[in-house]
Amino acid sequence: MSGSLLRRVRVAEVEPVANRIKRFRLVDADNAPLSEFSGGSHISVVMHAGDRLLRNPYSLMGAPSDTSSYQISVLNCDPSRGGSRFMHENVTVGTELEIGQPLNLFPPAKLAKKHVFIAGGIGITPFMSMMNELDGLGSDFELHYGVRSLEDGAYCKYLQSRYGSRINIYRQDQGQLIPLENVLSGQRLGTHMYVCGPKPMIDWALQTAKLLGWPDENVHSEQFSAPPPGKPFVVKLARSGREIVVRGHQSILEALEENGVDAPFLCRGGACGQCQTNVVACDGFIEHNDHYLTEPEKVSGKKIMICMSRIQTGSITLDL
Ligand code: FES
Repeated sequence: MSGSLLRRVRVAEVEPVANRIKRFRLVDADNAPLSEFSGGSHISVVMHAGDRLLRNPYSLMGAPSDTSSYQISVLNCDPSRGGSRFMHENVTVGTELEIGQPLNLFPPAKLAKKHVFIAGGIGITPFMSMMNELDGLGSDFELHYGVRSLEDGAYCKYLQSRYGSRINIYRQDQGQLIPLENVLSGQRLGTHMYVCGPKPMIDWALQTAKLLGWPDENVHSEQFSAPPPGKPFVVKLARSGREIVVRGHQSILEALEENGVDAPFLCRGGACGQCQTNVVACDGFIEHNDHYLTEPEKVSGKKIMICMSRIQTGSITLDL
């Protein structure tokens, strides 16, 4: 799947919800109903930021059954590759954008007896629709949400007023940390844990769950990583013979799209495996920035995840 099915939407509302975080409400540009989605889904938003084409993934936060609008939250990252800054500085009420269809790579487990959500900062966003969905189903869940301060944490008051004691907020400015070991110890059999937030937090949660003996299949994580910048290089497409320059702040996938080449993708964050591409030849060193390929696969140099990884110099020939 290339994810190229796009829909035109209009921004109906923009609201600052915390320091550097804005909520955007999107409606269909022709006021048609949007597609239903499931808790944990995301959409990609297409942005023409200057001479750059970006497609950033954002979690859908509203009620999954609400087809009147979609809601996303955007953190103005510092440094930004351009996407979040573009959303904060250029997108206002009335702006038209293109979005991809909702995709879910982070759904709540259907057979879980209970759901424990661990969120850090903007990592709260996928849990907003999950909790909405699970609440409607009468499912058991609890949230542990770490924020720098109440001004930096989005939706704290809303969540506490809606879900009461199931919401636990931890404020860094008051020296509070998620008591992860306590939270994960003593949960009943069949509980699933989900974590979303900065990479160190995800690593900490996954490692703690492992140490406490949680089965791998009960532990879920989602991280939207941006492709790191580097030096420009050339991608050769073995099937068409085309040569495309990947600029310093672009991923290979973004450079292909900018040049009209339809390549497969889903998450655009190095996690789902959809963009895995065979390497035909490479005269440079591949920087594997994904968390999908195994170490032996990375060392072999025969595969590359084109949404995240790049080469340091020279050129690479791909089976495209
Ligand atoms: S699109 Fe998911 S790993 Fe590249």
